[in-house]
Amino acid sequence: MTQEFSAILIEWQKRHGRRDLPWQKSSDPYAIWVSEIMLQQTQVAAVIPYYLRFLERFPDLAALAHAREDEVLRAWSGLGYYTRARNLRRAAQLVVEQHCGAFPRALEDIAALPGIGRSTAAAIAAFAYGTRAAILDGNVKRVFSRFFGIEGHPGEKGVENRMWEKAESLLPESEIGCYTQALMDLGAGLCSRRNPDCAKCPLNSGCIARLSGRVHELPQPAPKKALPLRKTTFLVLAREGRLLFERRPEKGVWAGLLCFPEADPSEFSESEKLFAFVHTFTHFRLEIEAVLVETGKHREGIWLSMEEALASPIPNPVRKILDRIRQPFP
Ligand code: ADE
Repeated sequence: MTQEFSAILIEWQKRHGRRDLPWQKSSDPYAIWVSEIMLQQTQVAAVIPYYLRFLERFPDLAALAHAREDEVLRAWSGLGYYTRARNLRRAAQLVVEQHCGAFPRALEDIAALPGIGRSTAAAIAAFAYGTRAAILDGNVKRVFSRFFGIEGHPGEKGVENRMWEKAESLLPESEIGCYTQALMDLGAGLCSRRNPDCAKCPLNSGCIARLSGRVHELPQPAPKKALPLRKTTFLVLAREGRLLFERRPEKGVWAGLLCFPEADPSEFSESEKLFAFVHTFTHFRLEIEAVLVETGKHREGIWLSMEEALASPIPNPVRKILDRIRQPFP
């Protein structure tokens, strides 16, 4: 089975896989590293123009190591997840200091660099040096979970460990770059989460999920956890047809958006409260009480008309409160 799995994928990759992506033309570990970091959280089509510009601007590792951080961030601007850009520059500096400027060959040295985990290190080593190393990103986890019928959420340590063992045991003796690209291409394409195209899949005859009609049930989602509940009170201050807003700090929830000032709930009685609702974030639920206060006094902040507020960058709960004020009797 082990032989067959990789052989089928390598054959499929040669006929149907992507072979003309810009980073596939290179065996320069620096260029491959840059591409893998960009591809960690961004789709191929969006990465391509950034990748080409980045390599023009920073053609080799020394150029990146000696660049100022704001230059690197500017070249990254629009790709998102800027920690990736900071780590890239920092890692280039470490390679200059610790490896005389030559990108390391050993897997553990590659994985020791900031921003490079076990799977990304393996991908770089496989593409740049032909190293027999296993990748396991989110897409590959989906392929394994379906093909082998692996139960449980792949984010759980035990499930993930089993998948790493599988990944290691499936590695072909040769053509590791082609095999690695095949796994990536299959996971990003035919074996997509929502629209898998099993009819075209080279592995369909042995796929346990397909044979048992469970393609859409695997991989299993993360178990729903009970989220902690926090509470806040929004002070909706109104004066001469305008409402008071404050810009949120650059860090944390709703960073940089305009929001109502938060108030101490003990200052208000139940009868003054406009309404309450719960907003769900990824890590907690927030019960929001809105208190509407007509005031004659001035207070520092950003005073906006209803129309201006609705056209401003505001979080959804603020929009919800504004909608409620506009239509007090729904
Ligand atoms: N995603 C991560 N690495 C990739 C690569 N080398 N080609 C296409 N998609 C990828």
